[in-house]
Amino acid sequence: MSASAPAPALVADVGDARYPLHLGPGLLDRLGELWPDRRPGASALLVSDGNVAPLARRARAALQAGGVRVITATVPPGEGSKSLAQVERLCRLAADAGLRRADTVAALGGGVVGDLAGFVAATYQRGVRLVQLPTTLLAMVDSAIGGKTGVDLPEGKNYVGAIWQPSLVVMDTEALDSLPARQLACGFAEVVKYGLLDGPELFELVESRPALPGPPDELADLIRRCAGHKIAVVEADERETGIRASLNLGHTVGHGIEAAAGYERYQHGEAVSLGLLAALRLSERAAGLDPGWRVRTMAVLERHGLPVRLAADVPTPAILEAMARDKKADAGSLNMVLLGAPGDVRLRQDVPRERLVAAIEELRR
Ligand code: GLY
Repeated sequence: MSASAPAPALVADVGDARYPLHLGPGLLDRLGELWPDRRPGASALLVSDGNVAPLARRARAALQAGGVRVITATVPPGEGSKSLAQVERLCRLAADAGLRRADTVAALGGGVVGDLAGFVAATYQRGVRLVQLPTTLLAMVDSAIGGKTGVDLPEGKNYVGAIWQPSLVVMDTEALDSLPARQLACGFAEVVKYGLLDGPELFELVESRPALPGPPDELADLIRRCAGHKIAVVEADERETGIRASLNLGHTVGHGIEAAAGYERYQHGEAVSLGLLAALRLSERAAGLDPGWRVRTMAVLERHGLPVRLAADVPTPAILEAMARDKKADAGSLNMVLLGAPGDVRLRQDVPRERLVAAIEELRR
């Protein structure tokens, strides 16, 4: 890194990996300065999707100006690109372009590109350097941090994957300016999750946010706090043997809804919005959460255009069946994240099925 490179907003110290996270406007144009590989002739496979073509051009130009040879690869936008077929395509592209063990794979985009390109980085020549360049709010606060990578099988989401930490994360907040409102709202569902997990102070800050994106500095501050929460959790439990599971708050029921509705109807963050409300309802019954927190959470989700009522034609048995297939489910028991209060996380495996059914049914009212 050159002397003039900006200071990171955060640093993650996970297992053997220690990496900077940069956050701010226009950082893609400074990628050459921030790049972790200063060798002459360094190469990078830059993976993105068609939604971020102008950003990919900026990233490529900045890297080339920094002396990095760039091979670009584009995948179709959407979950369908998280496939073994795309992994093979990208690995072969890298091989044909002569990408070596010391080179880098960079993921520019949202969660799909990050998970896919991350898995390519984890497996190509048994693992090469990974740089995450998240362009969505969801990826900035969640999926680009912590090293989860992977693709889907027809049998289940994220069924093939690896934990592979990035060497660098660059969050150019200007990317959020062109993000469709629906996608921004989806990322906000994860922001609300962090508010609930972190405690009343962050929850109240999240709650006080006006319509997104709002003032850039305020949004950047929120991203930094959420990312900071995630880093602390991943530092404590990289491989999800314990507290990292708390990051799945709202995701157990959320993934069930997403799958049962066929992935098109509810985007991930929209399903998480409903999943958070179900988790809070369960928390009231099984962990003594004050119902006022659910009422406040529902208000903030609704204000940001996220669903707070589940459609009548997404059947509860299909949601339960999808939840049982979720790879977060252990044989015979569902792992649920509950809260005694914001910041007071309870990981539970003993939630009775009838309580779960009731919490899902209550989402329809
Ligand atoms: N998205 C949850 C995690 O990274 O653990």
